[in-house]
Amino acid sequence: MRLKNRIGLLLLMIMLLFGLTGCQRAEMSVFDPAGPVAKMQLSIIMISIYIMSGIFVVAMGILVYVLIRYRSRRGQNQPPKQVEGSWVLELIWIVIPIILLGILVVPTVTSAFVLDEKPAGPNVLNVKVKASQFWWQFEYPDLGIVTAQELHIPTGTKVNLQLETTDVMHSFWVPRLAGKTDLIPGRTNTMWIQADQPGQFQGKCAEYCGASHGVMDFLVVAEEPQQFQAWVNKMKNQQVKPASELAAEGEKLFAQNCASCHAVAGTNYKGTLGPDLTGFAERSKVAGVLENNEENLRKWIADPAAIKPDSKMPRLPLNEKQISAVTAFLRSLK
Ligand code: CUA
Repeated sequence: MRLKNRIGLLLLMIMLLFGLTGCQRAEMSVFDPAGPVAKMQLSIIMISIYIMSGIFVVAMGILVYVLIRYRSRRGQNQPPKQVEGSWVLELIWIVIPIILLGILVVPTVTSAFVLDEKPAGPNVLNVKVKASQFWWQFEYPDLGIVTAQELHIPTGTKVNLQLETTDVMHSFWVPRLAGKTDLIPGRTNTMWIQADQPGQFQGKCAEYCGASHGVMDFLVVAEEPQQFQAWVNKMKNQQVKPASELAAEGEKLFAQNCASCHAVAGTNYKGTLGPDLTGFAERSKVAGVLENNEENLRKWIADPAAIKPDSKMPRLPLNEKQISAVTAFLRSLK
């Protein structure tokens, strides 16, 4: 290969290295843990990385040494001396991996037991997580609250999650708080999370579940306990008052078209097939993926399949004016 081509290839490789490893958004990084579960899991990841890096350096070092030391030289036709059945070598490559695996196994098994233990006590918050193609429901059985797409939790508190699915397999993943746990039809899996500081943590479905798997996003909103309590009180004492004439018109349309699937606390709308819309205007996302503003909400209502293919949300027979009305009603749910 000519020198120019070699340099070109090298540059391409470097670009690919940065391009491919840069895919992950920082908000989805396991290297930036925000709670004890993620921290414990990161320490295991780091041990593996250190061990693998060590093996890589040693193996590549030997390879480079051998390539140089035993390269073919001018005037030399004999292959180098062959080694066969050396028990010293065999012992080395049996004993070293056993030691390395031992170093990996101890923290892995210890953490597995710690993380498997279900937190108990008065300070633990229980949440039932229900996944459906392609959205998430969060129910707080002890608080009498149901919400969707955004899981509110108080900081410094262990949160028990009971994970169930209504259809196919999904996987609950909030990289900065904890590793993945699958939601499997017919069984309840459990895990716990805790956020040490307030913040918003991006979550994703991590098990292929259909056409809109890639946009089955959710958010964990961690707040100081006081703020969390304020949110709970607000959710429990919802008073739905359409803010304008247009919104009142929208509520009528909502009752006719949407209420069989969607619930709103403080009203007679109790549908359970789709996400609960209590306090919808306070959420940061529409359908879990688009920024929550008027334009995106209109887009979503006008053509859900354009944003989430195969979503159960139908395209409703609403004209522009009616979409404006429903949008105004939803944006008054605070
Ligand atoms: Cu749900 Cu992928």
